[in-house]
Amino acid sequence: FPGFGGGHGQLTHGVVPPNRKDDIVIPAGYAQSVIIAWGDPVETGAPRFDVNRQTPEAQAKQFGYNNDYTMVVPLRDDRKALLVCNHEYTDENLMFPTGKYDAKTIARIGLAGHGMSVVQIDRVGRTGQWRRDGHGGRYNRRITATTKFDVTGPAAADARVGKVAYGTFGNCAGGVTPWGTILSGEENFNGYFDVSGTVPAQYQASFKRYGVPTTATKSARQWSLVDERFDLTKVPTEAFRTGWIVEVDPYDPKSTPKKRTMLGRMKHEGATVTITADGRIAAYLGDDERGEYIYKFVSTGRYDEKNRKANFALLDEGTLYVAKFTGDGTADGLFDGTGQWIPLTTDKKSFIDGMSVADVLIDVRTAADKVGATRMDRPEDIERNPVNGRIYAALTNNSNRGGTFAVDEANPLAKSHTRPSLGAPLVEQSGNRNGYILELSEEGDDAAKTGFFWTLFLICGDPAAQETYFGGFDKSKVSPISCPDNVAFDGSGNLWISTDGNVLGSNDGIFTVPVAGPKRGQVKQFLSVPFAAEACGPLVSEDDLTAFVAVQHPGETDDATFEKPSSTWPHTHTFPRPAISCVWRKDGGRVGS
Ligand code: FEO
Ligand code: CA
Ligand code: CA
Ligand code: CA
Repeated sequence: FPGFGGGHGQLTHGVVPPNRKDDIVIPAGYAQSVIIAWGDPVETGAPRFDVNRQTPEAQAKQFGYNNDYTMVVPLRDDRKALLVCNHEYTDENLMFPTGKYDAKTIARIGLAGHGMSVVQIDRVGRTGQWRRDGHGGRYNRRITATTKFDVTGPAAADARVGKVAYGTFGNCAGGVTPWGTILSGEENFNGYFDVSGTVPAQYQASFKRYGVPTTATKSARQWSLVDERFDLTKVPTEAFRTGWIVEVDPYDPKSTPKKRTMLGRMKHEGATVTITADGRIAAYLGDDERGEYIYKFVSTGRYDEKNRKANFALLDEGTLYVAKFTGDGTADGLFDGTGQWIPLTTDKKSFIDGMSVADVLIDVRTAADKVGATRMDRPEDIERNPVNGRIYAALTNNSNRGGTFAVDEANPLAKSHTRPSLGAPLVEQSGNRNGYILELSEEGDDAAKTGFFWTLFLICGDPAAQETYFGGFDKSKVSPISCPDNVAFDGSGNLWISTDGNVLGSNDGIFTVPVAGPKRGQVKQFLSVPFAAEACGPLVSEDDLTAFVAVQHPGETDDATFEKPSSTWPHTHTFPRPAISCVWRKDGGRVGS
């Protein structure tokens, strides 16, 4: 493997022990700092953050809440860049002093606190430290749950969807295209709708398959108080205008963002793009819910490196596939086998009897049900390793495996072990509680092919639990890891994993693991995030000098209130603020190495 011979590919960082600290904890020799936090000014004219003077207008120009997917794309030199992230959701119980705001104002601020941000950032000296550009930036932009989107691809012509949609919300992971646009997945969209009366009979089966309410319901945020399209009795088709992959051009702040229907409608974790052997585009897609599927899109057109705009419609024409996994038996001591990408539809022709192209895209779960695809344990981030060409997928957990969903070789655990608290004994539970990392090799290393090989590279959990597996590495020398969510790679092809929902009694974090060589499978914790936060990103910069981490929902515990938070990170106020940090090596070396 290229990159492993030169020495810098070794992961030599110290190991962060499992902990419950309300801070970012990093190895010795590293430093970290916050780049931007909830409420910081983004667009020109944004007021300074003041928790007692929040308005929808201010929030629409300030950094949103609960930063999740994070990407950094270059500007003209290596000193300036654009940080792009999405704001998955809001935690109203941690955002507003009790009694100070009325329900409609809270709903309007919530709409503005969702979406995405584009923020110009500067390198500090020659280091791996980055900071928000003190002068603002002409690229700076907020996209919210009310921003206008163009809907593109085959389902835009369908009356259920239409050519225009407003806002993006519930966004989870994402990816960057070779032409420098950002893709982001609309994930838990179903929880944003109210139903004041009934919903049309013809939509009920579809709504149920996606967890969209069909009977009288008040959602947690009640956005229908201020915008009737969130009441499915009044505007039932609004549910069909979300659950898509969105594409944003961070280099053109005036551009209208797109919803790309050819990538199907699901609880999209994200979309990550690679180039096929013949120069087309492939995108890997996870549908993050228990028992849902892994999908792949392959474009008809080829990527044009010389003409950026020639790529702008590449995601509208092609073929959408779903994955079927076949095990080769467990006598070999491995959970592995072969697989098949089953075509569901092209932009012109559906392969599913009784479903049109638009039907397949809008109700892609139903189409996948019909072809016997493999029900997975919550497929989250899926990404191609640029060094070895393999695809790595985080399957975060599935408490219903072995119950609602039968075990198979790709989803083998009907029981697994958790720790109720740090240091407590392991407890056996039903289902797959700690998740897997799946490693997949496309036939001929070509993302356009329809056959693949797969193996479970990691069976996560505490190494003391017998079911865990760390790529065959010595389990006495690895960090416990639970609920992998997002994956990334450094320049040497080492895998970086962030976690969400650790059930081993400690904070979530970021972990590194070599995927090749004698240390393949040696998972080491690189960082932990503050109390009750989820570790998002992770992102290692192109020059390997910086690791970016998005700290999502610090202090999000059931009993937490604004006045009694369970975290105050980043310790600028008496309440928590989701924020994005950068981590670098004090000696200027490559992170991880
Ligand atoms: Fe937003 Fe799939 O986690
Ligand atoms: Ca096997
Ligand atoms: Ca995720
Ligand atoms: Ca997550």
